Amino acid sequence: MKKIVWGIWLLATLVLAGYYGWLLLQADDKSELLIGEATHGHFQIELACSSCHTQAFGGGEVLQDACVSCHGDDLAMAHDSHPRKKFTDPRNADLLKVLDARQCISCHTEHQNERTHPMGVTVPEDYCFHCHEDIGERRPSHVELPFDSCASAGCHNFHDNRALYEDFLVANSGGPWVKSVAQLAERNAASRAPLPDLPAPAFDDTALMGKHPQVAADFLASSHAAAGVGCAGCHTGNNDQWLQKPELNQCKTCHAGEVETWLQGKHGMRLAQDLSAMSPSMGRLAFQAHAGDRHQGCTSCHGAHKFDAKTAAVGGCLECHADQHSLAFNDSPHGLLAQQALNNQRPWSEAVTCATCHMPRLVNGDTGIKVDKESVSALGESAIVSVTHNQNLTLRPNEKMIRPVCMSCHSLEFSIDALADESLIQNNFKGKPHQHIESIDWAVKREQR
Ligand code: HEC
Ligand code: HEC
Ligand code: HEC
Ligand code: HEC
Ligand code: HEC
Ligand code: HEC
Ligand code: HEC
Ligand code: HEC
Ligand code: HEC
Ligand code: HEC
Repeated sequence: MKKIVWGIWLLATLVLAGYYGWLLLQADDKSELLIGEATHGHFQIELACSSCHTQAFGGGEVLQDACVSCHGDDLAMAHDSHPRKKFTDPRNADLLKVLDARQCISCHTEHQNERTHPMGVTVPEDYCFHCHEDIGERRPSHVELPFDSCASAGCHNFHDNRALYEDFLVANSGGPWVKSVAQLAERNAASRAPLPDLPAPAFDDTALMGKHPQVAADFLASSHAAAGVGCAGCHTGNNDQWLQKPELNQCKTCHAGEVETWLQGKHGMRLAQDLSAMSPSMGRLAFQAHAGDRHQGCTSCHGAHKFDAKTAAVGGCLECHADQHSLAFNDSPHGLLAQQALNNQRPWSEAVTCATCHMPRLVNGDTGIKVDKESVSALGESAIVSVTHNQNLTLRPNEKMIRPVCMSCHSLEFSIDALADESLIQNNFKGKPHQHIESIDWAVKREQR
């Protein structure tokens, strides 16, 4: 009898597990299965369960592979200070007893919003203690520091320390807080990536333009017209038929890098999972009331047929974004530079726009290489300079902005202090930083001993 009961129990469990496994990967409506809201980084794709749970019954390694497939390249490029291989070294086995740092989910679990800190971190803030308890013995400067301050702004990050390691701090100590205007322009001086050959025109552009005078006016003033792209460049659909509404795939034929990076950030991540396009009404930030239904796509900032990068860089963003930081921009010293450049009072290359910080020009997609003439020519032909369309790439932790953005114009010290000041982020960088982070001072002092 007992055996039968257990048999039924086992069967029922298997059927149920099978049902849930099936739902996880196959069912259309997965919302009833969601065991808890997803983190700030992933909530947009939380119903695409199989983007993380690539197999129905996989825990540890299956999830690990999923995390690495989406984030591995960026962590590698960031010279991750605590890569997995540091912990697979048997000499460090002891350190893993409390916190298994080989697994992403030891520090970043999902569906547990109640214990999730910024950046999807689900361990208490003093966790560095587990492995660096003895730091005060080797560094007198650190004796009095509480362990929840290690990773506070401007000191250390767990993964990305490209602007914070000791040699870099020493090499970039000193200098005026802001550089000369002549130096500013270097940031934008590097040239664009080469584009593929343009397809031969297949439509009667002159006739089409006659029919659509507004389109014609915008188009003729655009760099597409200047570069010889005809209507067919975008409007060619299946069997060479006229395509009324060109989308991502048409832009991709010539701008593959922009499309690829755009799909990796919060503007494009839903389309990357074959979900509907993101719109402000689905977001968690503050947006313009009238923008709720504006869907993200290549034309949400550029606008057909002008496709003008200048409007896109500030005005385009403010069509949707309306949080305190975004709204404060126009009134900031950077906003003033952008206004002057839009009014042709200074060259566009000297403007600081939303895109300067959030969509910086990168060399070969790397946020660690400075975009100036010298660094670019040192790389020779392999250097491809492009505007990243992943606006999350330099967003958090915000020290990611220091090298590709702030340091083109400011000293390292000023940049660290400014980014560590929450009130400056709120008012979009109006005024000097209120506190000083001592990292550079300590590093220089140690060097001098
Ligand atoms: C962004 C990645 C991600 C997405 C998307 C996601 N999950 Fe998860 N899920 C995780 C992680 C990480 C864990 C935690 C595993 C752990 O801590 O052991 C988890 C745990 C779970 C668990 C607990 C069982 C277990 O394996 O630990 C269930 C059930 C679950 N998820 C269901 C879902 C369902 C259903 C969906 C879609 C509606 C979904 N998940 C979407 C990442 C994700
Ligand atoms: C399908 C691709 C995909 C998978 C799988 C995935 N992520 Fe993400 N993750 C993203 C995107 C897109 C973002 C948002 C853009 C950004 O912050 O870079 C993000 C954001 C994050 C963030 C930053 C959150 C923030 O608020 O700044 C962390 C941390 C993170 N992911 C960790 C993980 C971990 C750990 C796993 C495995 C359990 C994982 N991701 C699986 C695509 C993915
Ligand atoms: C020992 C804890 C720990 C482990 C293990 C860990 N992380 Fe993190 N992760 C953090 C902390 C803390 C942050 C916050 C920013 C920082 O300090 O670098 C973070 C931030 C991130 C971010 C957003 C910021 C950035 O630098 O890109 C991503 C993405 C991320 N982790 C992915 C991963 C992935 C993928 C793995 C597994 C390969 C992983 N993490 C393993 C602690 C951890
Ligand atoms: C699970 C254990 C573990 C945790 C947690 C941990 N570390 Fe480490 N950390 C290590 C190991 C191992 C090394 C390599 C030590 C060595 O090479 O001497 C290291 C190296 C470092 C270095 C040297 C820099 C480098 O690139 O080699 C710094 C700085 C550092 N950790 C800071 C931190 C901070 C800050 C935290 C918390 C945000 C932290 N660590 C959390 C294990 C850990
Ligand atoms: C660089 C790509 C591109 C080129 C080149 C281009 N278009 Fe378009 N066109 C678009 C996009 C994208 C849309 C859809 C706009 C939207 O979704 O709001 C569009 C929409 C249209 C529409 C329908 C919507 C409207 O505004 O009336 C017409 C008509 C049109 N284009 C005509 C033309 C003509 C004529 C040319 C050549 C002179 C041309 N297009 C060249 C991208 C392009
Ligand atoms: C047939 C190839 C082709 C297609 C398709 C195409 N473009 Fe372009 N695009 C170009 C060329 C060529 C330039 C000019 C490059 C230059 O000046 O260096 C350009 C320039 C641009 C610029 C920069 C404009 C400026 O003023 O700086 C934007 C923005 C742009 N394209 C957006 C798009 C969008 C969005 C789509 C899809 C709707 C698209 N393009 C489709 C070839 C194309
Ligand atoms: C969030 C707003 C936004 C969206 C959405 C957007 N762009 Fe852009 N794009 C910009 C801005 C801003 C610039 C110019 C940045 C600068 O000059 O600093 C730009 C520049 C470009 C350029 C010129 C590149 C260069 O290296 O100078 C091209 C080409 C382009 N975008 C294509 C696209 C395509 C294709 C898509 C769709 C995947 C797209 N954009 C979606 C804001 C956007
Ligand atoms: C069509 C509306 C729209 C336009 C235009 C737009 N955005 Fe966004 N943006 C969004 C939405 C929606 C999100 C996702 C919000 C969320 O996940 O809660 C977002 C997310 C972001 C984020 C990430 C926020 C976070 O917390 O991870 C940044 C940064 C950002 N946008 C900057 C810009 C910049 C810079 C521009 C102009 C170059 C711009 N956006 C143009 C709608 C827009
Ligand atoms: C000088 C650089 C700079 C400029 C210019 C700038 N930002 Fe930011 N932005 C930041 C930093 C730094 C953060 C905070 C990142 C963090 O620590 O979370 C941020 C955060 C954001 C966020 C996320 C807000 C949130 O609550 O999560 C959005 C959206 C955003 N910016 C949009 C914009 C828009 C739109 C503009 C132009 C109107 C703009 N930014 C101009 C540097 C800049
Ligand atoms: C293209 C050059 C450029 C870039 C990039 C840039 N800035 Fe600036 N910044 C300036 C200039 C020029 C001023 C105004 C100086 C003046 O008004 O005299 C300024 C002003 C400031 C101010 C206000 C100072 C005051 O007295 O009001 C702060 C804070 C600031 N920047 C921080 C940053 C941070 C942080 C970054 C990186 C996220 C950054 N800037 C990126 C050029 C730049």
